[in-house]
Formats: sequence, structure tokens, C-alpha cells
Amino acid sequence: MERTFIMIKPDGVERKLLGEIISRIEKKGFRIIRAKLFQPDRELVEEHYIEHKDKPFFEEIVEYITRGSVMAMEVEGDSAIEMMRNMIGATDPKKALPGTIRGDFAYSISENIIHGSDSKESAKRELKLWFG
Ligand code: TYD
Ligand code: MG
Repeated sequence: MERTFIMIKPDGVERKLLGEIISRIEKKGFRIIRAKLFQPDRELVEEHYIEHKDKPFFEEIVEYITRGSVMAMEVEGDSAIEMMRNMIGATDPKKALPGTIRGDFAYSISENIIHGSDSKESAKRELKLWFG
């Protein structure tokens, strides 16, 4: 069993995709261990995206994630980190395949609906950061 950090971003909440996304996660066989719907502050989001702090899109992504509510989740299952990344799809919606969450719902690279941890180390770090 493995646990990963999943966040439905503000555009996912605004576009009323919470039910659809949670349903996909559950139907796949994963278990949602913890969840919270809230508007994260700048400090939390900057820390979350710290690996991108020198990228040109850093300010834009911090503004976007802090503009409204997100759904932060701890998701458990076998190979949950890799399988959730597969279900989420590629970062760039032009490359995200149909059937993936981004492939089906995202139309912009900067607003791409959902985040999933990309490794064991980032899952551990992000779960601690968002849930303590
Ligand atoms: P990244 O960690 O590369 O993607 P992923 O979310 O698939 O792990 O980037 C983090 C987020 O930064 C990404 O979801 C959207 C945003 N982003 C941009 O806005 N422009 C870009 O060119 C890239 C690479 C990412
Ligand atoms: Mg990433």
C-alpha cells in the first residue's frame, strides 16, 4: 500500500468537477484517507511548488492556486503514486491522452485541474506539508 497527495485545483472546483474526479479515484479502487476543501494561503502554495520557484510560471501558478478553494486529498492504494499520475495525464493538455483527467477536462497548461505527487519523496513531503 502506498499513499499519495492529490489536489483538485481551483479550476476543478470552479468547474464543478469534484464529484467526477473523486468518482474516478474511487472507481479505480483507491481509498481517500483524508480530504479538505479550503483556500490555501500563499505561503503553503509557494512551499508546495518550491521546486519551480525560479521558473517563469512560478508567480502565475501561485496566484492561480490561491485564488479559490482546492480539495486536498490523501489517497491510498497499490502503486498509488504512479497510477494516479497515469490517471491524471500529461502536464500539457495537448499531450494528455483522452481518458485521463487532464486529457478529458483540461485545456490549458497553466490551469490543468489536478495535482498528483510525482515520487515517494514528494508524496511524503507534500502530505506532511498539507496535512501535518
Ligand atoms: P510540473 O511539476 O512540471 O507538472 P505536473 O503538475 O504534471 O507535476 O509543473 C507544475 C505545474 O506548473 C503544472 O501542473 C502547471 C504549471 N506549469 C505551467 O503553468 N507552465 C509550464 O510550462 C509548466 C511546465 C508547468
Ligand atoms: Mg510536478
